[in-house]
Amino acid sequence: MVNYSTVKKNFKLEIERGDNNNLAYLTHYLQNHKNRVSQHFKEPAIKYYTELNEQFNCVFEPEIQQVLPLNFDIPFPPPEKIDFTFIDLFAGIGGFRIPMQELKGKCVFTSEFNFYAQKSYELNFGEVPFGDITQLDLNVVPKHDILVAGFPCQPFSISGKMKGFEDTRGTLIHNVLQIIKKREPKVVLLENVKHLVHHDSGNTLKTIIKHLEDLGYIISWKVLNASDFGVPQNRERIIIIGNKKKKFDFSKIVVQPKPILKPFLESGVEFEYLNEPYTILEDYKVQDSGLIFIGHRNKKIRGAGVRPGTEHLSRVHKQPNRIYSSDGLHPALPSQETSGRFWIYNEGKVRKLTINECYRLMGFPDNFVKINNTSELYRQIGNSVCVPMVKEVVKQIKEQLL
Ligand SMILES: C[S@@+](CC[C@H](N)C(=O)[O-])C[C@H]1O[C@@H](n2cnc3c(N)ncnc32)[C@H](O)[C@@H]1O
Repeated sequence: MVNYSTVKKNFKLEIERGDNNNLAYLTHYLQNHKNRVSQHFKEPAIKYYTELNEQFNCVFEPEIQQVLPLNFDIPFPPPEKIDFTFIDLFAGIGGFRIPMQELKGKCVFTSEFNFYAQKSYELNFGEVPFGDITQLDLNVVPKHDILVAGFPCQPFSISGKMKGFEDTRGTLIHNVLQIIKKREPKVVLLENVKHLVHHDSGNTLKTIIKHLEDLGYIISWKVLNASDFGVPQNRERIIIIGNKKKKFDFSKIVVQPKPILKPFLESGVEFEYLNEPYTILEDYKVQDSGLIFIGHRNKKIRGAGVRPGTEHLSRVHKQPNRIYSSDGLHPALPSQETSGRFWIYNEGKVRKLTINECYRLMGFPDNFVKINNTSELYRQIGNSVCVPMVKEVVKQIKEQLL
């Protein structure tokens, strides 16, 4: 009999062959064997399973789903009782899936092409995402209530190259639109960096909205800040919501007072302290956003385009030089900072945030399983979405639109 760990061992091999959709079919089939959605995945799943049986010289077991303990070896199994279905596009590590499952949402399809993100997703949800969305056979995507897509932000990001639709990644929204056109979900939920609002003088956002309206959706959007949802991170993201019957009302979303970093910090673990000269400012600044910029490393930093003496005040790419107080918020964790140089001043010392603290700053529960590759972990969390923010948004979607 083939068991799940045998299948898992094959995973890396499959990915290296660039053919991981076999495992995507199999795991999607297993996760959906109790509902009609399984039809979309059944044939390739059984074919692959049969091949596995032959390869490993195992006893043939046609009803594979009955022998695999899916609910036992993953921290985030699907909900027992289901209120709605959704698909998770550009799924990353599942920042949408955790809160949506908590709200009794059943994920019926996932796509994500990065190997490490797929691995993380599989470890936590027991499902391997389908790969490149541009290569997807749309028939594989089942009907669903909510389409979720935190589409790649590089073309729109202030820390990216600002190429917009000329950048091929910018066109991924068109793949999303194709799925919307074919499956007509009740609700479309898109997420991106705040800068999308201003990109190309607002034309990029206008174009996306127009395409959605052409497909019959009534659109509303708002920039939300993670710090209003109980996590100490100043992370602003645009949320775009479409529905065919009703306009989503963002004013009903419940916000909380902004927290500070300190209660989210770990204790009793080894910290990486800053072991080079730095300056703690006596006259430090509390910014309107709630950040407390309290000091900076003394290291000479890349100065191109920055006025002399103001290097430590420049934006995003200068963040590794700045030190923030644990009595305030932390700035947005960017995906580009793969060595995790997020310096904080806490109890009179300067140290890096730990990986676990970074995941807490995004609202991930501590039982989220983290893969064994530190720079990928930093990249993944910087790419992800604030879990409690999604939860509040989806609570309102359920209330207003489902
Ligand atoms: C901004 S991140 C979204 C992260 C996600 N919301 C989360 O909670 O982790 C965008 C993701 O899209 C993935 N991606 C980019 N191009 C893709 C493609 N052509 N097909 C599938 N996934 C893609 C990237 O690997 C990245 O993980």
